[in-house]
Amino acid sequence: MSISRAIAEQMERSSWIRRMFEIGIQLRKERGAENVFDFTLGNPDVEPPDVVLAALSRVVAEKRPHSHGYMPNAGFPEVRARIARGLAERTAVPFTGDDVIMTTGAAGAINTVLKSILDPGDEVIVLNPYFPEYRFYIENHGGRVVAVETDDRFQPDISRIARAITPRTKALILNSPNNPTGAVYGAGVLRQLNGIVREPMIVISDEPYRPLTFDGVAPPETLSIIRRAVLAWSWSKAMAIAGERIGYLAIPPHLAEAGPLRNACTFANRILGYINAPAIWQWVVAEVPDATVDVSQYQAKRDLLCDALTAMGYDAPRPQGSYYVFPRTPIPDDVAFIRVLQAEGILAVPGSGFGRGGYMRLSLTIPRADLERSLAGFARAIHSQMALV
Ligand SMILES: Cc1ncc(COP(=O)(O)O)c(C=O)c1O
Repeated sequence: MSISRAIAEQMERSSWIRRMFEIGIQLRKERGAENVFDFTLGNPDVEPPDVVLAALSRVVAEKRPHSHGYMPNAGFPEVRARIARGLAERTAVPFTGDDVIMTTGAAGAINTVLKSILDPGDEVIVLNPYFPEYRFYIENHGGRVVAVETDDRFQPDISRIARAITPRTKALILNSPNNPTGAVYGAGVLRQLNGIVREPMIVISDEPYRPLTFDGVAPPETLSIIRRAVLAWSWSKAMAIAGERIGYLAIPPHLAEAGPLRNACTFANRILGYINAPAIWQWVVAEVPDATVDVSQYQAKRDLLCDALTAMGYDAPRPQGSYYVFPRTPIPDDVAFIRVLQAEGILAVPGSGFGRGGYMRLSLTIPRADLERSLAGFARAIHSQMALV
């Protein structure tokens, strides 16, 4: 058996996550699980809201006819109509059920739309630092990644983006609230983006963290502002149901190519092997589409971590959303600093894994008690580096 060269190379490039996983196993053996503080996981540490679990029980108990069989590849028409109603209210874009394709999470939505629009060598802009899976999703479909740096507050840099657009640019992936930085993009920058996005390019607005914001911040509706934006939505984080693989793709009816794009995406959803999004979970999210986990516990952990790190001398701004903190590492070599943290039993992902060296990503999904017990290690780590200067 031989593994494709492309996959072998991609696995090598994605090795940060794998390496952290392996280091985690090793550290747990050496120090005992209770002395390892894992800040690497992007998996919600809370249970789904009770209303979601109640809706699940109800849907299963009802035994609706044909609830477990194949369906139209875009999903149950009633579910899509329900989702479209909420989306139209939120965005003031007149979505109908025809404009919504149920997908296997945001990952399924992004792959589906990229498969539908990319020819080999077409370019997709991502904003650095970015969710590393984007590179693989783009390469899955023959596309070429064009990474454009964000500004010093991790906001999109419009003039850099404008310079990166070429006749081969088919899409830009936007992610606000952002993984890994926690930045939320303002309406002004979205309006500027709207001004530079021209056919055939579209914006893919990847929004799994939209409901997870802090201090009352309400992210502006990308679809209300950017005319050529499609929405990749997921309930993975909002409802803490990442394993259930449920989300959707919404294509605004005002796009000139809306009809053909809808058909292409429905077909792509099928031939990528997803066939259709999980049936039972379509009914569940349609019953309680706006249910969200308790965000206050993430905010409390954000405050605890950012305040403590700042007091120790780290540059650790408070993120406005998602559940990640993205502090600077005290030394420019983030990988070296990650090793210093490992010696304290702390697992973090280096910023290099997201395309931005000199930073690290810390996930707030860590249990609070572990976070509290990790702080002494963070303090020793920075002091050890200061002592070397
Ligand atoms: C920015 C971003 N986009 C997409 C995804 C994929 O989410 P889903 O579980 O909905 O496929 C993730 C998951 O971590 C993410 O962080």
